[in-house]
Amino acid sequence: MSRYIIGVDQSTSGTTVILIDDAGEVVAVRKLAIKRYTPQLGWVEQDATEIWLATRSALRAVIQDARVSPDEIESIGIANQRETIVVWDRHTGEPSGRAIGWQDRRTLEFCEKVDPSDRDRLEDETGMLLLTNSAGPKIEWLLSHDRNVQRGMADGRLICGTVDSWLMWNLSGGKSHVSDHSNASVTMLQDARTLSYSERAIDFFGIPRGVLPALRSSSETLAYTAPEHTFGVEIPITGCAGDQQASMFGVGCIRPGMAKNTYGAGNFTMLNVGDHYQPPSHGTFSPVLWSANGTVTYGVEYMTDDAGSVLDWLRDGLRIIGEAREAESLALQVPDSGGLHFIPSLGQQPTDRRSPAASRAKPGHSGGLLMGLTHQSTRQHIARAALEAIAFQARDALEAIQTSAGISPAVLRVDGAGARNDFLMQFQADILGIPVERPRTVETTAVGAAYLAGLAVGFWDSVAEVEANWRLDKVFEPRLSTDARDELYQKWVDAMGYSSTLNT
Ligand code: G3P
Repeated sequence: MSRYIIGVDQSTSGTTVILIDDAGEVVAVRKLAIKRYTPQLGWVEQDATEIWLATRSALRAVIQDARVSPDEIESIGIANQRETIVVWDRHTGEPSGRAIGWQDRRTLEFCEKVDPSDRDRLEDETGMLLLTNSAGPKIEWLLSHDRNVQRGMADGRLICGTVDSWLMWNLSGGKSHVSDHSNASVTMLQDARTLSYSERAIDFFGIPRGVLPALRSSSETLAYTAPEHTFGVEIPITGCAGDQQASMFGVGCIRPGMAKNTYGAGNFTMLNVGDHYQPPSHGTFSPVLWSANGTVTYGVEYMTDDAGSVLDWLRDGLRIIGEAREAESLALQVPDSGGLHFIPSLGQQPTDRRSPAASRAKPGHSGGLLMGLTHQSTRQHIARAALEAIAFQARDALEAIQTSAGISPAVLRVDGAGARNDFLMQFQADILGIPVERPRTVETTAVGAAYLAGLAVGFWDSVAEVEANWRLDKVFEPRLSTDARDELYQKWVDAMGYSSTLNT
């Protein structure tokens, strides 16, 4: 009998489920899209039931596509969009309303009013920045704006959690209300040093006891699927991690000093700093990458909200491209951006989180900016400036991480849809001055979740065995001199500096 592991990647745009064999080869993949709702400026919501049903359908479809028996599946690993909050009825499984998405900015006012000394203490204790992304303020918002949530949580009827816990609760038929340390590390509710809930944070956000999931490691038996969901077989769920942490594992950044950037709708740049917790600084935060066998691996992360979403805007807003990947061919038709600089702040988020002040800046009233337009400017220049901006932001991110952690990675590994763009990857290497390594498998998040699950059940014996599965597609070596790269970057930094003067 063959043996397989399933990896789930439940992201904002949809759910991808893979079936993987012991050589780390992806045998089958299924993807299902899910909707995102923006009922008001700054609000981002999703239908939690749609998330669950799409995940279950993709999971069942992948088993059918691969023509494997459910008995051959050793275990399931789950990776998920982080910070998004779901509240549901523990008896009926009905969500109390839509999930509040991680990009949602409705908690801005609350975050701004927090006393700086409380904020600093909370950030140091939890490893997460008090930004609108965090889950803690979202639960506080629901408790203070939704009477049903307030009453339901007080009387024990309603429980809540991030998307991993929502999926495991459903997959287990309502038996397990659990989450892992990596997901909890970006909620602002977990003590980064002890990996238990921070009493201070729970009290600060006014969250009643007993509504949050139990905390577990990222690689152990967290739950079992109810047989009705997995073709009559009970399958253990033995891996769980936030999607960016799972991708870190999937691209093999498992040793201290290794770094990756995921090019999705946003950019998520992470550095592995080993077993020593380094509190947030310079606009970075400090997630748990994974916990397993009694050890914890910490990271330093910098999050950029707009990256690939800029290309979506070129496609859907400006309509100068038909598909996101056309940006690459347009960019290659010109030798440079023709003096154009793109400041991507399409969600009006602060463009620079490096300084503590900037990390807490209000959303810029001016949003994004396209500077340097002339009669000679073409859509080729705009596409090129947009792609270059993604790479410049990644340099911001890496510099912030380096300053914060005091470690300079020798190489940047990449994944996510944008990593397929050769122009962007080459320009990225040029601007960073270090090689950029792209893996052969693009489903690294689901692969990372599968690895964490497989390690827990002895499917793979060691992390070294998993690491050996990593396959390189291409290395992009930097081609610019230090002076040339610094000059290009400085021009963009100047443009960004100008844009922030408009936001004050
Ligand atoms: O922290 C947010 C991140 O986990 C969302 O990822 O890929 O679902 O947009 P994604």
